[in-house]
Amino acid sequence: MLFLPKPKLSEFDLIIERLKPQHDPLLKAFRCDKEDETDFIRNDALLQQTIKLNETYLLFERGKEKVISYITFSVGSFVLSPEREVYGVRIRDKPCEFPNRVPCMLIGRLATDKGEEGRGGASYLLAFAVREAVRKSELVPFPFLAVHAYPDKVAFYERNGFERAFTPDAGETPRTACMYVGLFDVAKKH
Ligand SMILES: CC(C)(COP(=O)(O)OP(=O)(O)OC[C@H]1O[C@@H](n2cnc3c(N)ncnc32)[C@H](O)[C@@H]1OP(=O)(O)O)[C@@H](O)C(=O)NCCC(=O)NCCS
Repeated sequence: MLFLPKPKLSEFDLIIERLKPQHDPLLKAFRCDKEDETDFIRNDALLQQTIKLNETYLLFERGKEKVISYITFSVGSFVLSPEREVYGVRIRDKPCEFPNRVPCMLIGRLATDKGEEGRGGASYLLAFAVREAVRKSELVPFPFLAVHAYPDKVAFYERNGFERAFTPDAGETPRTACMYVGLFDVAKKH
């Protein structure tokens, strides 16, 4: 049997909603490629949001009651390689006193329902994450949006404008790769 790919999502038909208790029945139908991400949205996301551990946003197509993708934000920090540049200057060359661990808004989870993959849902939520990070960092400043990516998802995040915080040593196989976007770079463009 021939399976045709689903059409790409049109941004005019997309709605992002902050997770709320009324969404609960829709969450039970969500299933993605990774068990952790499936379990989280079904069982933990609402409670964790209630106690302010993180915030989750759901992506819908207008008029349809199916969660296409979701993204979860929290706060965090990470170590950035001194070889990386901040505002066009290598950290090693100390543009200013720079902390060893840098604060960030963290993408704790990102996933797309198995039946909706490849339609642009996760990429749309990453663009939303960058916009939200710029906006939120105006109140309490933090310089980066970051994610701990599964190794097989590094290329996906690179396609969406993220860089690796560190280049792994030869032969090293880290469990996750820390990746980031500099919010000053985004703000500079606007
Ligand atoms: C990774 C994931 C979020 C992508 O969701 P998605 O909605 O299908 O992503 P998009 O439709 O926005 O982007 C798909 C594009 O990225 C590409 N892509 C997807 N996974 C990729 C990967 N591992 N490496 C490189 N490219 C990848 C696709 O080929 C597609 O390319 P195209 O636009 O040229 O067709 C989804 O596969 C998923 O939920 N996986 C399980 C949970 C997970 O691993 N989350 C990431 C946590 S770090």
